[in-house]
Amino acid sequence: MSALIAPSILAADFANLQQEIEMLNRSEADYIHVDIMDGVFVPNISFGIPVTEAVNRHAKKPLDVHLMIVNPDHYLEAFQKAGAAIISVHYEACTHLHRTLQAIKDLGCKAGVAINPHTPVELLEDVLVDIDLVCMMSVNPGFGGQKFIPKTYDKIKKLKAMINSTRAHTLIEIDGGINEENAPKLVECGADVLVAGNFVFSNEDPIRTISALKKL
Ligand code: DX5
Ligand code: ZN
Repeated sequence: MSALIAPSILAADFANLQQEIEMLNRSEADYIHVDIMDGVFVPNISFGIPVTEAVNRHAKKPLDVHLMIVNPDHYLEAFQKAGAAIISVHYEACTHLHRTLQAIKDLGCKAGVAINPHTPVELLEDVLVDIDLVCMMSVNPGFGGQKFIPKTYDKIKKLKAMINSTRAHTLIEIDGGINEENAPKLVECGADVLVAGNFVFSNEDPIRTISALKKL
């Protein structure tokens, strides 16, 4: 069993972003996870469209853009133009989620839905076939380096059963607090993609850390 690995550049050295991206290009990372925070949906501001565009100029891996913003519909096209391959919007920020998912697909991107720790997976049932990836938050969004919430294991199992019963092809991505201890169990429960920020970038050998996560 092995998962796709999506290192989050939120934990990268922003003063050396080009080198960090080139390091990820040389690694076994599958995606580059790009965390966009607006200071409204979440209590923190990260970076936005110009930085995403700059990352994309050097990236040789697909950009997995996680929009932690209100009114994501207003910015979908801008992020597609900035290089996003996958765009995830938050369930909690979308009044017309089905429409938003179609808009993402019409731009030629894969459509993702992120859910906060308090949001039950059952709420996705009627749109599951339209979702390419569920970004299940295993911390409250807004900051890197937080503690993993163990309830996530049950949520993965439930969502996996829902996906199998609807014959959807949705990937389950887990985001927040991932390390070498919880990663094997997450994959065992059905996770397809693991996001890792601090665990990768605070290690002195990030390339080896990414390979180790991949070999689980
Ligand atoms: C949290 C972000 C995560 C975060 C992961 O709001 O969505 O992607 O950067 O970082 P770690 O792995 O450090 O929890
Ligand atoms: Zn994220």
